[in-house]
Amino acid sequence: MMLLQVEMEKRVVSKYVLDLVDGVDILGLGSGTTIATFVEELASSNLAKDLRVIPSSSQIESVARKNGLNVVGSNYGKPDLTIDGADEIDSELNLLKGGGGALVREKVLAINSNYYVVIADHRKLVNRLCTRKPLSIEILPYGLEWTKELLESALDSKAIIRMREGSIFLSDNGNYILDLKCEPLEDPSAVEKQLKLYPGVVDVGIFTELADDVFIAFGNEVRKLSSH
Ligand code: A5P
Repeated sequence: MMLLQVEMEKRVVSKYVLDLVDGVDILGLGSGTTIATFVEELASSNLAKDLRVIPSSSQIESVARKNGLNVVGSNYGKPDLTIDGADEIDSELNLLKGGGGALVREKVLAINSNYYVVIADHRKLVNRLCTRKPLSIEILPYGLEWTKELLESALDSKAIIRMREGSIFLSDNGNYILDLKCEPLEDPSAVEKQLKLYPGVVDVGIFTELADDVFIAFGNEVRKLSSH
């Protein structure tokens, strides 16, 4: 029942934000199942024809191509708008990301987009980041055990190297992902800054001061959280 509701909410919020795409030339696409739903809705609207999309991952690139969107690379130009998903969102519009392993490219898109929007179902709204989901960190394969140890002691928690089908999961950048189950974060920005100082860390799945607007579906209703 819950799962059906969540799938319905992904569709509700995807349809809701379609209007934002009107007049956009270059659209950035985040990754994950919510954005896959958004891509389907976009493809079946009349907004997709003249649009160029820049995907954040091979996952969403293949969804975009399957749905007939015009896919271009990151050298095509900066996105007017990027639509992304998130694993958790707090009321300050801080985001926890990386469940799909695309956090680095998503952050590059976010900071280089004129307007960065996040869409989500109701489960994603939390009081503090890392309430339900682990903190994902992309690291260099070189020095894996050393970086893992540094991060575990910084956060006083256990890190798990992400696996897929029996092998270490590789991001689209050829890196590894560590998932750290930590206590809910009191100061996400401080944690992000601290962890980014470790040379083996490529980036951290905490996005602060990036989201302009967040749209969250609660059943058929969509609520907007705004940074301004
Ligand atoms: C990808 O790395 C993530 O940041 C996704 O945006 C996030 O995991 C949301 O995915 P779902 O829409 O599948 O929940």
